[in-house]
Amino acid sequence: MSVYEPHLASAEQAAWPLETSVRWGDIDVALARREEHILSALRDAALIEGYLPVFAPRLMQLLWDDVDATAVLSLELYEGLRHYTALKRYLDAVGYSPSILSEDRMVEARQRALAGSARPEALVGQLTNFACSELFAAYFFLRLSRDTKEPVLAELLERIARDEFRHASAGADLLAKRVRQDPAVAEEILEAAQNFRHYGADIVTVPVAAENDFEAIAAMNRLIRQACGVSPTQHLQGAFDAQSI
Ligand SMILES: [Fe+2]
Ligand SMILES: [Fe+2]
Repeated sequence: MSVYEPHLASAEQAAWPLETSVRWGDIDVALARREEHILSALRDAALIEGYLPVFAPRLMQLLWDDVDATAVLSLELYEGLRHYTALKRYLDAVGYSPSILSEDRMVEARQRALAGSARPEALVGQLTNFACSELFAAYFFLRLSRDTKEPVLAELLERIARDEFRHASAGADLLAKRVRQDPAVAEEILEAAQNFRHYGADIVTVPVAAENDFEAIAAMNRLIRQACGVSPTQHLQGAFDAQSI
């Protein structure tokens, strides 16, 4: 079976219709407005989700002959649009600078990110960055869902976090497939993981990935180990041991 089919099946199972699965009418607006730092984090996250129509096709152009990868990225685009719309709708509902996510602003932000074009030789690195970015996004949303006191937002962010964990695991499966086809790819993945840079940094100055997010870093190690059979920390340790011989 293809890599993407189980992911498509779990995406369909986990789907949460925007209209009916969020209690839009129950938002505690006064409480939400007191959590200024959370609202500004949501705005950054929405900008990153809204950047996917630039990021995903660029990656797809490199991966056009990998049917699994293009399917996973198509799902990412669809679910990313749901995330973008949900976050924007929430920010509008609580009256947080609604114009900040206007179409003009979105287009302007995408334009800034257009500068970085994808190079074919960077394919594996980009795919690794994608998988790791999804994982950091999952922990970012999970942390925010625990931080906020506003119950509707907490539920919404938990749903989004679950989606991002699913996206990260699809990314890991795509990497594992490449390693099965060519074991030498593992080295490229490990190198990219060591130099990981969240793709959200293309679009906002404060990326969603916290540098000291140890929970996410440990999970990233597990994800890479799952794909390569060795984790970035084991790999670094190996390089260090080899040097000290
Ligand atoms: Fe997302
Ligand atoms: Fe995602």
